[in-house]
Amino acid sequence: TLPPIVVQGAMPIEVEHFAQKLENPREDQVGGWRFWQGTVDGYPVVVSETLKGMSNVAAATAIAATQFRPVAIINQGTAGGHDPALKVYDIVLGKYSVNLGAFKTPHKRQGEGSDSLQWKPMDLLASKGSAGEDKNAHSIRQFPADAKLLAIAAGVKNSYKQGNVVEGVIGSADVWNSELDRIRYFRDSYHTSAEEMETASAAQIAATFNIPFVGIRVLSNNITNQGKYNPQTAQASQDYVYQVVKAYIANM
Ligand code: 5AD
Repeated sequence: TLPPIVVQGAMPIEVEHFAQKLENPREDQVGGWRFWQGTVDGYPVVVSETLKGMSNVAAATAIAATQFRPVAIINQGTAGGHDPALKVYDIVLGKYSVNLGAFKTPHKRQGEGSDSLQWKPMDLLASKGSAGEDKNAHSIRQFPADAKLLAIAAGVKNSYKQGNVVEGVIGSADVWNSELDRIRYFRDSYHTSAEEMETASAAQIAATFNIPFVGIRVLSNNITNQGKYNPQTAQASQDYVYQVVKAYIANM
């Protein structure tokens, strides 16, 4: 049997629309995670509801890797803008993703408080030793997209009529940032276009299994330019990724 393409989304509004597009879908559940197995243009595709956050998506990615041995994993859904030039409904093709929740703080004495802008990035993959003592661990780990998947994702740009499609950096953590100074800091030092809670974790696990990966995110909100939250954008992400999947299958 052919190795499927896995399409991930965290919330029901981020997967059910795509699942409805599958030919001959079969839904089943592993632990708390739903998977729909079907086909697109006759080729096997699995839609995976990862649930929200870094831990949930890591587990869902490991389950998909071992159960389905996929040829590719696409993580998609909604995100918040870090780039004021991007509007709600614009799409970011993640050339790489970064973990926005991995830091070592400077030492401060009791009563000295806490300033997250002083925290240093910490790369937990830098070595097998203690990251807290490792001077080489103070760099930002980048999880790159598969070059072929990224090129195919960029190749269907012109089919998208609801906004612009750009390549950029996706930042992930179990945090919803609403402090504009912190968002600016991430944009300046991590070069993020958008933030959400899954891509970097899924990318890390996919890389550990050697599975080609790309993250594709639609802006559902952007507080850097008063872009109001719109959950309808989740459907646009799935429609875009459906075109990516069709192009990938046509190019096989
Ligand atoms: N910050 C963090 N996560 C966001 N999401 C959408 N917008 C944002 C944002 N501004 C996504 C996350 C998570 C859910 C809360 O929505 O990926 O799944």
